Amino acid sequence: MNVNRLSAQLASLLVMGLLASGCESEEPFPSQAELELMRELHTMPRRPPGDTTNRLANSPEASALGFLLFEDPRLSSCRTVACKSCHDGEGKTVSEPTALGCNGNRTGRNPPSTLNADYNRWFMWDGRSDRLWNQAILPMTSPVEMDSNATIVREELQSRYLEQYQQLFGKSPAETGDDELLANVGKVLQAYERTTNRLDSPFDEDVKRFIAAADSGSTTLEDDPAYLGLKTYFRKGQCIICHKGVTMSDNLFHNIGVKDTGPGAQGQSATIEGVLDWKFNAKGLYSDDRNGLDASRIDSTRATLAEKRAEMEGAFKTPTLRNIALTAPYMHTGELATLEDVIELYNKGGEEPGAFHGTKTDTIKKLDLDSEEKAALVKLLESMTGAPATP
Ligand code: HEC
Ligand code: HEC
Repeated sequence: MNVNRLSAQLASLLVMGLLASGCESEEPFPSQAELELMRELHTMPRRPPGDTTNRLANSPEASALGFLLFEDPRLSSCRTVACKSCHDGEGKTVSEPTALGCNGNRTGRNPPSTLNADYNRWFMWDGRSDRLWNQAILPMTSPVEMDSNATIVREELQSRYLEQYQQLFGKSPAETGDDELLANVGKVLQAYERTTNRLDSPFDEDVKRFIAAADSGSTTLEDDPAYLGLKTYFRKGQCIICHKGVTMSDNLFHNIGVKDTGPGAQGQSATIEGVLDWKFNAKGLYSDDRNGLDASRIDSTRATLAEKRAEMEGAFKTPTLRNIALTAPYMHTGELATLEDVIELYNKGGEEPGAFHGTKTDTIKKLDLDSEEKAALVKLLESMTGAPATP
């Protein structure tokens, strides 16, 4: 028998084998394209991206003051609620669906973690803040959170942090106008938050090992403990479409059909004009770089507003999946208690129309995951917990 015939026979045997196993159309995992996406998933940069709209973003002195302010309940009108009240513990969040603010009020949504927060491009579930420093103004002045204002904040700064404030801003709190004062507090809080990160996780090691094996042409990839989780994340689960890149977020907003008929159910569509016109945004008076890249995003977002309007209805930010095991419960409502519940929601293709505002994005469909695939996805998500990073 000549070599050609032999290989033809082998090839047909292989095809028969594949047919018998029912996966004749499946390309081996990972394909070249998948491998490229996988290379982008691991090893977080040591520092969050630079933010030129806050000249103090990387100042250790600002960060030291930010740490004190983050924990100071006297910045609130009720004197009992600090940032830390709702962003505490290993996961820098709370373990209930919503959190308790001043006067017995509850937040409308689930507090996201402040870990790795400055790796994000937009802030809040609906993106109503475009820089981490201006984000901080929202909880300070929200009646259901710290219920505060510039007068209360100024008194506290003047009496307890005068020296630190003066060193950073060249004047006293008493000499600072209301809006500027709130922006300044936001800027020192950002400097602190930028130092609270959890970066390297077992997931990163798994992905590196897997890529190295794929690059070396390994024929036993299927035996890798991360194989089924990664394959499901990329293929049947389609998670990689939105949870991509090193932060595992596309930095975009999608309607994935999470149950919500409450007052905040409209998501991004209700707040987009607000952030574009906001006096505290990257292009506004209090930004330290009103002509930079972040400011230009305000214009580019406005330019495409009309065509994107429909998909903003009921859309929420794709959250990072890093440290996800530390931040239960899940989704903007906090209605899903466990990662298993999250996988079940994706598996059924989101809730039925009517249970949420707007229209689900086309990507969200019934997945038909089997129990091994579900368990592998949960294990993958659990492996994304990073070790605390030293600033
Ligand atoms: C009463 C609870 C509460 C307090 C107090 C509070 N937060 Fe939050 N935080 C939340 C909730 C709820 C959200 C989500 C709100 C939304 O998206 O509508 C949030 C969102 C955030 C985010 C956005 C994270 C992201 O990835 O989008 C950051 C950062 C943050 N808070 C920091 C702070 C800082 C700094 C303070 C103090 C000035 C603070 N928080 C005070 C509950 C709280
Ligand atoms: C179409 C984009 C898209 C796809 C595909 C997608 N997600 Fe998400 N994911 C989101 C958005 C947007 C949210 C927040 C939704 C909300 O709260 O309304 C989210 C939320 C989550 C959360 C909760 C995060 C938190 O902090 O509460 C987890 C966990 C999650 N996704 C995992 C996955 C997994 C696993 C897959 C694949 C099976 C997947 N996602 C597929 C966009 C997507």
